[in-house]
Amino acid sequence: MKKVYIETYGCQMNEYDTELVKTILGKEEDYQFIDSPDEAEIILLNTCSVRDNANRKVFNRIHQIKQKRNGDKVLIGILGCMATNFRQQLLKDPHLPIDFIAGPDSYKRLPQLIRRVETTGEKSFDVTLSEFETYSDVYPTREGGVNAWIAVMRGCDNFCTFCVVPYTRGRERSRDPENVVAEVRRLAEEGFRQVTLLGQNVNSYNYQGKDFAYLLERVSEVDGIERIRFTSPHPKDFPDSLLRVIAENPKVCRQIHLPLQAGNDRILALMNRTYTRAEFLKLVEKIRRLMPDVVLTTDIIVGFPTETDEEFEDTVRVVETVQFDSAFIFKYSERPKTIAARKYPDDVQDEVKTERIVRLNEIQKKISYQKNCAHVGEVHEVLIEQEFTKKSPNHFQGRNEGNKIVIFPRGDYRKGQFVRVKILEATPHALRGEVVEVLEK
Ligand code: SAH
Ligand code: SF4
Ligand code: F3S
Repeated sequence: MKKVYIETYGCQMNEYDTELVKTILGKEEDYQFIDSPDEAEIILLNTCSVRDNANRKVFNRIHQIKQKRNGDKVLIGILGCMATNFRQQLLKDPHLPIDFIAGPDSYKRLPQLIRRVETTGEKSFDVTLSEFETYSDVYPTREGGVNAWIAVMRGCDNFCTFCVVPYTRGRERSRDPENVVAEVRRLAEEGFRQVTLLGQNVNSYNYQGKDFAYLLERVSEVDGIERIRFTSPHPKDFPDSLLRVIAENPKVCRQIHLPLQAGNDRILALMNRTYTRAEFLKLVEKIRRLMPDVVLTTDIIVGFPTETDEEFEDTVRVVETVQFDSAFIFKYSERPKTIAARKYPDDVQDEVKTERIVRLNEIQKKISYQKNCAHVGEVHEVLIEQEFTKKSPNHFQGRNEGNKIVIFPRGDYRKGQFVRVKILEATPHALRGEVVEVLEK
């Protein structure tokens, strides 16, 4: 038995892929997963490449492991998005103590790759991207027991000019809806209450003409699963039929992550986002008309090449107009191979990017706080996720339909149950309250 430890960076898709890898290697008799790197004989890093700091974190971690385990016989394997985009750099650097590399579509070959290093002592790798691999025959090794991630499509064909994902994860492909529904049924039998459908571009899901609205309806028919979420969608793929399902199907949470990226039309065009500021605002209006209580969140990039102060102000104005519940704001980070890296020099000074991100974060923090304060006095249905919080063993934590964290005092309830909580207090990041009813579902 070889002891294996895996560490995950990046998005939920990577979390999910880690669960796949646990199943794939766990099936072999030779491997056992453990919770600490100190005794591991094989250390896997499931990496992210979306911004430079994600990359740097992994390089630092590799050196740190090497130092700590100096002299030990330990194999280090790089999985995930860095594997595809940085294969050459990873293999070429003689000081980098890594032994094998597997890209996001090569996890089924991990046992062979590891065996090859063990027998030959030479670095092995497989970073081939597939147009078909969806791992629909691998049942992930999940933890937690309340929410289950389930990838329904993989890859991305959008080629936003700043983004490395189409290069690290390859072409879009969707999973057979029957296969997805069968997995969701099994999850319900195991006691999961919520599923989150995942895809790099989840609402462009299409399996032989069956679209994302169809998939949501089908998944909602599974008894036992009470909540359905999805991430990450693209604003271009919200036909009315999909909005109607989100608005009307009681199991589909009225919560949408709607990545804006920028609020200026020239920058949006350079980014190849395929919508204008007016089209984005119109979509928001339509969503709010159908679902006045919808929770909207977003992603924004500041300092895209050539973005002027005035153009950045357009983004600020959209943020102030839309009033997102929360926003993830990033400084533009040039990624190798992308269209932006080839065509547009990264010419916005880092200090300017910092000023913009600080300013926008301050504005958004106030909006998030106001939005949360407006919930005080309301009663929310909460799915309990934890029988503790980061700060207190005497409080439970769950989420409301809008995916906001709700904290309340410990009581005679358990993880996986639904309770109604009266909201008494708000911060920019969470709501606090007390349970007024335990629900029978
Ligand atoms: N598929 C998702 C995005 C995945 S990456 C989607 O389309 O919404 C998550 C976020 O990282 C993006 O929405 C974007 O805001 C940010 N991001 C991606 N590439 C970036 C880059 N090169 N520099 C800075 N932020 C980036
Ligand atoms: Fe990247 Fe754009 Fe695809 Fe999202 S939609 S993964 S930002 S290329
Ligand atoms: Fe990172 Fe790859 Fe996800 S680049 S954000 S781990 S798709």
